[in-house]
Amino acid sequence: MPATIKTASEIEKMRIAGRLAADVLQMIEPFVKKGVTTDELNKLCHDYIVDVQQAIPAPLNYGHPPFPKSICTSVNHVICHGIPSDKSLKDGDIVNIDVTVIKDGYHGDTSKMFVVGKPSILAERLIRVTQESLYKAIRLVKPGVRLGDIGHVIQQYAESHNYTIVREYCGHGIGANFHEDPQVVHYGKPNTGEVLEEGMCFTIEPMINAGQRQSKVLPDKWTVVTKDRSLSAQWEHTLLVTKDGVEILTLRDDEQIERIISH
Ligand code: MF3
Ligand code: CO
Ligand code: CO
Repeated sequence: MPATIKTASEIEKMRIAGRLAADVLQMIEPFVKKGVTTDELNKLCHDYIVDVQQAIPAPLNYGHPPFPKSICTSVNHVICHGIPSDKSLKDGDIVNIDVTVIKDGYHGDTSKMFVVGKPSILAERLIRVTQESLYKAIRLVKPGVRLGDIGHVIQQYAESHNYTIVREYCGHGIGANFHEDPQVVHYGKPNTGEVLEEGMCFTIEPMINAGQRQSKVLPDKWTVVTKDRSLSAQWEHTLLVTKDGVEILTLRDDEQIERIISH
């Protein structure tokens, strides 16, 4: 199914939800330090979303079996859907924190990579290339562009650095539901797939591995890891297709890219 076209009032709600999700990542940044547990990060985010933002953390009880926490924390070789735990972060760890909030019935979904202490050169490069692949994809978005064009640019860029793209998980339409059609895969062929139209909202969230692309799910039924235990990085934004380009609904202050890109 194609993406739904959001009305002006839905778009306003998506802007608010997107800003709140981005604010959570900005709030948590100073706490992502050596020694903190991912459970502690979860509690800080949960309380901020519920008490300060008066919003709902979408991951909590989502899916089957119900996801048990309010954010995802994916450390080192965890690709995505890492469950916060009593394990503490150590020097050199890389961690993706993925935040999704529901405000006034609409979802904002975003994630970024954090590094604890000093990362390896390899980790730093993987994180940078993954963010650059997201930005290259965002810069393509406008009416008339096809999803295959977006997947292609991510795949080309990642593979040109000898990295691999995770295929089992993808971006998605978003709105009143957490995961809506279409699936936004991070590989593909130009001139294929759904055509973007003004008013669509979707995420792009490339997961890129330093080693092989294969993943497996742990017995907890959520945590996705690289089969070869190689490092994995991910960045995610929620986007709105505008008349002549794209608006990044989950932009943070620490980013170099513009919120509104017009072509
Ligand atoms: N936030 C993830 C995404 O980007 C989905 C997490 S589902 C959860 O689509 F249940 F693990 F939270
Ligand atoms: Co998402
Ligand atoms: Co997410």
